[in-house]
Amino acid sequence: MKVLVLHGPNLNMLGLREPSVYGKATLDDINQQIQALAEELSVEVAIFQTNSETALIEAIQGSPEGQFDGILINPAAYGHTSIALRDALLASALPFVEVHISNTFAREPFRHKTYISSVAAGVVIGFGLQSYLLGLSGLIATIADKAQGRAG
Ligand code: DQA
Repeated sequence: MKVLVLHGPNLNMLGLREPSVYGKATLDDINQQIQALAEELSVEVAIFQTNSETALIEAIQGSPEGQFDGILINPAAYGHTSIALRDALLASALPFVEVHISNTFAREPFRHKTYISSVAAGVVIGFGLQSYLLGLSGLIATIADKAQGRAG
């Protein structure tokens, strides 16, 4: 099983960026924990961060079914703004899980909606770094169910 992990804009600044909102863990810390959980669950992960909407979409387009089984994505601000991101995820036909570090519902109203939540297999919001680990576990379970022909 192979999962593509995507981090959107400004997530390279974790650790320095608004620590009262996003915590002190750096992106490297998060990636190490994702990698460790993936190894424990015998899943391969490819991890990519970009500040560019274009690069994010191209990474999804470059990860067809067959090469990857699912996507774990923190779309960051592009979740709130990008119909193109939603379209790329739908075109990929891969199951994906959306994660957010902060509880976006406890923040500004413009963060309450993303264009991708309604087409995600699941959404994990507000658990800090754990959002990624919970999201990865949920995604793996979804992929396994799909492979065995069980409903998600
Ligand atoms: C975020 C929440 C978004 O609203 C924000 O734009 C981010 C990070 C999160 O992980 O909490 O950049 O996706």
